[in-house]
Amino acid sequence: MEVRGRTVLITGGGSGIGRGLAEALHGLGNDVVIAGRSRVKLDETIGANPGMEAMTVDIQDAADIVRFAAEAVERFPTLDVLVNNAGIMQIEDMLDHDLGVAEATVATNLLGPIRLTAALLPHLVSRPRAAVVNVTSGLAFVPLAVSPTYSATKAALHSYTISLREQLRDTGVEVIEIAPPYVQTRLTGEHQAVDPRAMPLEDYVADTMEILARDGAREVVIERVARQRYAEARGEFDEVLAQLSAMGRERSAANRGG
Ligand SMILES: NC(=O)c1ccc[n+]([C@@H]2O[C@H](COP(=O)([O-])OP(=O)(O)OC[C@H]3O[C@@H](n4cnc5c(N)ncnc54)[C@H](OP(=O)(O)O)[C@@H]3O)[C@@H](O)[C@H]2O)c1
Repeated sequence: MEVRGRTVLITGGGSGIGRGLAEALHGLGNDVVIAGRSRVKLDETIGANPGMEAMTVDIQDAADIVRFAAEAVERFPTLDVLVNNAGIMQIEDMLDHDLGVAEATVATNLLGPIRLTAALLPHLVSRPRAAVVNVTSGLAFVPLAVSPTYSATKAALHSYTISLREQLRDTGVEVIEIAPPYVQTRLTGEHQAVDPRAMPLEDYVADTMEILARDGAREVVIERVARQRYAEARGEFDEVLAQLSAMGRERSAANRGG
């Protein structure tokens, strides 16, 4: 993807991977707009990056997405890159019969990108060139059993991204998937930001930008996530699943204080 001279909208750009990508693209001289629910996080990010813009949106809310997309196009008519990065990840116990986490996860991680892409596509196809970049996960390819709905939304977003790319093949809109490995952010809580098993955010953003900038890049799969991404094709699915499940059990025991 051409990573210069663009106007980029990044959901979840006030923290973690979204903020890292926003700052990298801002540093390359692009016009960058970040979006999320927390005005505090957005203001802190744009305060640290003069010239960056911010808008609030709740990606779980269908009506708010329609409002947000219309406002974004009006305020930033040169908008030509959408990065669907906002997401949530929580542990779910399938035996406690509470669907709250599952429903919020589908609304945020799957319906959110689908709704926002639909709302912005009429504008994006009108641009001479444009891109939709969807942030999935290594867990799209081998699930983490303690977060079943999270893993399922990422698998679904991977599939959706492929179909979108096929449907838009004769337009000027590129469709790109970014599948991160385990990265040091606060996605699952404070502990993740300092977990030595997770990749440092700065390194992850640098590796991602390097691949994203390649002409015709369709999937950004860095070395740390390649084992998960290609596990099934390499006949390693059961082995990787068992390793992830052991890690997940450890993580949920730690969460219970056990
Ligand atoms: N870190 C990892 O290990 C990892 C691995 C694979 C994939 N990913 C994916 O990377 C993406 C970014 O996650 P991260 O690790 O950078 O975690 P993060 O720092 O928690 O970022 C998630 C962002 O999403 C935004 N968000 C959540 N719910 C939202 C909503 N309803 N409306 C609008 N914005 C919302 C949050 O902002 P507000 O709270 O202000 O709304 C936050 O800025 C996610 O899609 C995640 O699934 C992360």
